[in-house]
Amino acid sequence: MRLLCNRHQDELTKDIVYVNGSFLPRTEARVSVEDRGFVFGDGVYEVLRAVSGRLFATRFHNDRLERSLGGVRITLKGGDSPARFVDIGKQLLLENDLTRREATLYIQVTRGATTRAHYFPAPDVAPTIYISAARFTPYVEFAQNGASAISHPDLRWGRCDLKTLNLLPNVLASQTARERGAFEAMLIRDGIVTEGAKTNFFGVVNGSLRTHPCDAHILPGITRSVLRDLARDLSIELDETPISVAEIPRLTELFLTGTTTDVMPVVKLDEHPVGSGRPGELTRRLQRALAESLASGGD
Ligand code: PDD
Repeated sequence: MRLLCNRHQDELTKDIVYVNGSFLPRTEARVSVEDRGFVFGDGVYEVLRAVSGRLFATRFHNDRLERSLGGVRITLKGGDSPARFVDIGKQLLLENDLTRREATLYIQVTRGATTRAHYFPAPDVAPTIYISAARFTPYVEFAQNGASAISHPDLRWGRCDLKTLNLLPNVLASQTARERGAFEAMLIRDGIVTEGAKTNFFGVVNGSLRTHPCDAHILPGITRSVLRDLARDLSIELDETPISVAEIPRLTELFLTGTTTDVMPVVKLDEHPVGSGRPGELTRRLQRALAESLASGGD
């Protein structure tokens, strides 16, 4: 019955997306086969969360998109800007009847479409802009009971701080996690846990809350930043010292953070229970704080 209801709602949802200046049905949206996003993965993206039509932490997302664009040297044209993309996103939430529910907004900018050559195209080639909104259902069950994760080598490049389309190592790690029945792959580089394939993480070792510092080895997650502020408000000290593989057996709590993951407890890592095998106390406090922040609109 529940499935039927969801299906019915899906059918009612219109599917309008934005591509290069036009709002049109997803099935009519077109991007060139010569687009550099398609050919080289030459582009950057953002994923934002919308709760009841309100986009969460837009300023942080705008700043990060600006930084990613600058980091890969893509220049927007004709009045385009991250803030403008967010306005288009708000319009998409309206067009797609997504203002009374949970949704995500996807923004992608590539270096444009032109004959294949590795070096940058001529300056008159405009970036390709694609923005879409989608229904989103939070992972209620995992949030409540916790999820499992595996450890996996971090095979990514040296600029993981830029949110680029080059997600092949993340995709392969995620698939391995899935095949092993786990929600996330915790990426390991040089004996250090950097982040998840699609999330950042926080862990508790010897009673102190730790997370990887922001450097080129991790994505500066928006949820991570929000959590850092919430921890400060709750007088929970946060130590941005990386967690080593050797410390994993001493983790008493572990949780993932992300725009579509919120605060998700990890209760099993590589088949071993984390702490008591149940979501821990700090995890629960921060989970509640984030839920309140999301419900109150965030920005
Ligand atoms: N992923 N680390 C990586 C590698 C990520 O891809 C993400 C987000 C995060 C969490 O960042 P944020 O809190 O800003 O969502 C960390 C997005 C949601 C995705 O690719 O779909």
